[in-house]
Amino acid sequence: MNILVVGGGGREHAIIKKLRENKTVDKIYALPGNGGIAQDAICVDIGAKDLDGIVEFASANNIDYAVVAPDDPLVLGCVDRLNSIGIPCFGPEAKAAIIEGSKAFSKDLMRKYNIPTAEYQVFTECAAALKYVEKCNIPVVVKADGLALGKGVIIAMTREEAAEAVRSMMEGHMFGSSGDSVVIEEFLEGPEISVLSFTDGETVVPMISSMDHKRALDNDQGKNTGGMGTIAPNPYYTPDVAKRCMDEIFVPTIRAMKAEGRTFKGCLYFGLMLTAQGPKVIEYNCRFGDPETQVVLPLMETDLLTVMQATTAGKLSEIDVKFSDDSACCVIMASKGYPESYDKGFEITADEDFNACMYVAGAKAQEDKLLTNGGRVLGITATGSDLKEAIANAYTAVDKVHFDNAFYRKDIGQRALAALSDK
Ligand code: AMP
Ligand code: GLY
Repeated sequence: MNILVVGGGGREHAIIKKLRENKTVDKIYALPGNGGIAQDAICVDIGAKDLDGIVEFASANNIDYAVVAPDDPLVLGCVDRLNSIGIPCFGPEAKAAIIEGSKAFSKDLMRKYNIPTAEYQVFTECAAALKYVEKCNIPVVVKADGLALGKGVIIAMTREEAAEAVRSMMEGHMFGSSGDSVVIEEFLEGPEISVLSFTDGETVVPMISSMDHKRALDNDQGKNTGGMGTIAPNPYYTPDVAKRCMDEIFVPTIRAMKAEGRTFKGCLYFGLMLTAQGPKVIEYNCRFGDPETQVVLPLMETDLLTVMQATTAGKLSEIDVKFSDDSACCVIMASKGYPESYDKGFEITADEDFNACMYVAGAKAQEDKLLTNGGRVLGITATGSDLKEAIANAYTAVDKVHFDNAFYRKDIGQRALAALSDK
């Protein structure tokens, strides 16, 4: 079987390594992939948003199955385009990917179907939004409606900050047309839980839960990033919480999308907050999370390609998707300066006794060397029989990887460990 994977980050590397475990897989093409992914797949220099290029490549290269991993091509309709030339895909069609593509859509969906989430209002006029923030409770959360590279959320601690956020999104076009409409929502508090799920539109199968660490610095200080590390499972996701999530959030969401004529097939990511009133949805993503995938897939025991194909075929209920009882920890090694400016082009090396998983996010190959080429450079994942061991193994592995200006958080998993010791 020849498989095409759209995307080129650490998440895609984790997906590709897992797909490789299936013996029927011959070639895997990554569009565009990266210098590290090139060790596990054939990388082709076609951008993830270049739908014409992707379709042309797929039709010329005997592709049997495609996995579209990032949000942009999904929202732009990459799956629709590949399906139209007869290539089955893992991922939602554009009309379902809107669950991530428009926050106004997802909030309205939750309101209509009684799915627990923060109270909110949608604004398309700047003056009305400004008037609203003069009176609303503070802190308040201001979100650009459309995709904004994970940066379209501003938590305003004061009325002035809220007004500034509204102005910069709606008048300053800080996130381009993504900010033409904004969602202003209630500030929620509590630990966050990420749950990725497989769904074929009828059945929803949650994967092992995880916890992201979004801030750049230790103790959740510094700027928001794409994610500096993850652990799985998330200790806040107890069996009781899992049951409530299934009954109040996961199943109602899948049914709501179907009822709206937007059946969702693929990986639906639930970003949840465990509030005093119970779990609430912070956001939906129409795809695997990054770097959640880098801890979830290493713990998956069932063959990934088999589960993906069952999802596409609407036969997920026939499969028993199993995860190991172990824990996993992924530490992101970034370039110093990320998420702002940073230098790149430094050689990446690993000691001979490095024995963890190295998922490459931002690196390029030059001759036989691997050079840093992005903000988030590597995700180093290790597993262990419990969380403590997984964290220790991950940091032991991180110590064996070297590049100039390397920067990483030292406390990935500490909040989860503290939660475990409180139990
Ligand atoms: P998002 O891009 O929607 O995942 O938001 C980024 C981060 O902002 C989330 O992971 C939360 O930490 C935070 N956030 C988003 N919405 C809220 C909210 N209503 N209340 C508190 N924090 C929020
Ligand atoms: N880790 C959060 C995301 O993938 O959006």
